[in-house]
Amino acid sequence: MKILVIGAGNMGLTYAEGMSKSKLLKKRNIMVLDTSEEKLEELRENPQFDAFDDLKNCAPQADIIFIAVKPYHAEGVFKKLNPLVKPGQIIISIMAGVTIDTIQHLTGLTKIVRAMPNLPASIGRGLTSFVASNEVTRIELLTIESLLDTTGKSIQVSNENFIDASTGISGSGPAYVFYFMQSMMEAALKMGFTPNVSKVLVAQTFTGAIELFNQNELSPNSWMDKVASKGGTTRAALDSMENNNVGELIKEAAFAAFERAVELGKEKVHV
Ligand SMILES: NC(=O)c1ccc[n+]([C@@H]2O[C@H](COP(=O)([O-])OP(=O)(O)OC[C@H]3O[C@@H](n4cnc5c(N)ncnc54)[C@H](OP(=O)(O)O)[C@@H]3O)[C@@H](O)[C@H]2O)c1
Repeated sequence: MKILVIGAGNMGLTYAEGMSKSKLLKKRNIMVLDTSEEKLEELRENPQFDAFDDLKNCAPQADIIFIAVKPYHAEGVFKKLNPLVKPGQIIISIMAGVTIDTIQHLTGLTKIVRAMPNLPASIGRGLTSFVASNEVTRIELLTIESLLDTTGKSIQVSNENFIDASTGISGSGPAYVFYFMQSMMEAALKMGFTPNVSKVLVAQTFTGAIELFNQNELSPNSWMDKVASKGGTTRAALDSMENNNVGELIKEAAFAAFERAVELGKEKVHV
């Protein structure tokens, strides 16, 4: 199996490196293409990949073409790919808002996977949700899942609406966590802790809470009840959040991201 990754940016390289380390592919079976001379220089020095600057020299021999350019470059890339591809090749696109229909229409290929990763993919702890067109076979789906899992976990969803929805939860979600962390760090600073101590207090609290959550079947609500006792300090904080409707505001924020993802999908892809 040969993979071509188009776009050697943050995400393209994350997947290329993940796949390369996974032993799913033989060495030199990952081709990476970019238009930036600077990126190409770096790629040529990397023994893990074969670097390309012209689709003609790499697209025809790829079994899977992984597209990781910004959405506004999508149309240009697809138009160049169209005369070079052959039936049976699979496209995996991680571009936000670019639909399966658009990709099929512009490339002439039918086997399309649309995926939505998140930033922790860059350290192998990502979550990628994905949906495939009907033409992708079950066996091909297993391979695709293994490739996506090289950067963390993947979840197959039944239709593209769930790709937009997962954008609102896991795609944009790391930023919500950082928002919460930032507020807690600011509170710690206000209480008189140094920036370094504030950072440790908050980071270790998040790490510990997530690990507890992952090791057990308890819901977040049950964990909150375990930490908070009647009349205690945690209950004072949780009551303050409830009174200020923080939970509702977080849900509203996630839906704002979901709606924006839907809107972006409706906007025309630009060259
Ligand atoms: N970053 C995230 O957390 C995240 C999460 C979910 C989805 N995504 C999606 O992932 C995609 C890539 O994001 P990114 O953050 O990795 O972007 P990025 O760092 O800007 O990488 C894109 C790369 O593609 C290159 N490029 C531009 N036009 C090209 C062309 N015609 N052919 C080949 N390469 C080309 C760019 O070169 P230049 O720099 O010279 O333009 C750049 O090196 C986006 O579509 C985004 O929606 C990203």
